[in-house]
Amino acid sequence: MEPPVAVTTTHQASEGAVRAARRIAERYGWPYLPREGRPLLREELGGRKGWIVVGEREARFTAADGSSFAFHPGLAVVRIKRLLAGCPDPLVKVAGLGRGDCLLDCTLGLAQDAIVAAYAVGEEGRVRGVEAVPEVAAVVEAGLQVYQYPETAVVAAMRRVEVVPAAHEAYLASLASGSWDVVYFDPMFRRAVADADGITALRRLALPLPVSRQAVAEARRIARRRVVLKERRESSEFARLGFTVVWQGRRVALGIIETSY
Ligand SMILES: C[S@@+](CC[C@H](N)C(=O)[O-])C[C@H]1O[C@@H](n2cnc3c(N)ncnc32)[C@H](O)[C@@H]1O
Repeated sequence: MEPPVAVTTTHQASEGAVRAARRIAERYGWPYLPREGRPLLREELGGRKGWIVVGEREARFTAADGSSFAFHPGLAVVRIKRLLAGCPDPLVKVAGLGRGDCLLDCTLGLAQDAIVAAYAVGEEGRVRGVEAVPEVAAVVEAGLQVYQYPETAVVAAMRRVEVVPAAHEAYLASLASGSWDVVYFDPMFRRAVADADGITALRRLALPLPVSRQAVAEARRIARRRVVLKERRESSEFARLGFTVVWQGRRVALGIIETSY
């Protein structure tokens, strides 16, 4: 059997980075390789699917073939700055997010939408993201804790996003009815056509499946207010899954299913 992904730090890592790396290793059941200023040995990495390196400001997964995927907040930064300047954000508006609300993001990816949502709901609210690919979940979970940015509102929002490494189908089934205000889906399915938000590196690892009707049925049971779907403009997914399109951008659109409790 292929040895598991290993977790380590950059070689002069701070205590914070070491703590974050150890926590990820323990949580995902992967070995932690201490650096303490030394280079990693070939025999420590050989044969593995890849390894995760947590640094002062970055977390990165490198696959055995040399390709890599790092956490970065991408467009979330611009979107939060726009919100700070009083401009509306389509997802925040369509989801109807305000202070104290809670949003369950069923397709976390790079957590860009989750970070914006965490800013919108503030400290009193809650944002949790579910990600099926463990390497993606782990890099994003560590990155959300160590990534630095001059705008404190962006950093505070990143630190508040909770990460659950799981397939949303199984996770949704474990939740109580009416336990979240909004349940959100942004599947990878459509991305072969539209790829405008820096998600290319994620594509190699991400699960490319459409959202199932069963998952939407569970989301309707769990959401107190609405279920939101992001898809390509003109996507037949909205109709297939029972969503009404309420916002259209240049490439993507947002649809909702209202729920009531
Ligand atoms: C398009 S990306 C999401 C991007 C995200 N909204 C953002 O702003 O960064 C979709 C992500 O959902 C994950 N995913 C796909 N199917 C899933 C499932 N059934 N359960 C949990 N995660 C899933 C993929 O692995 C991928 O990382």
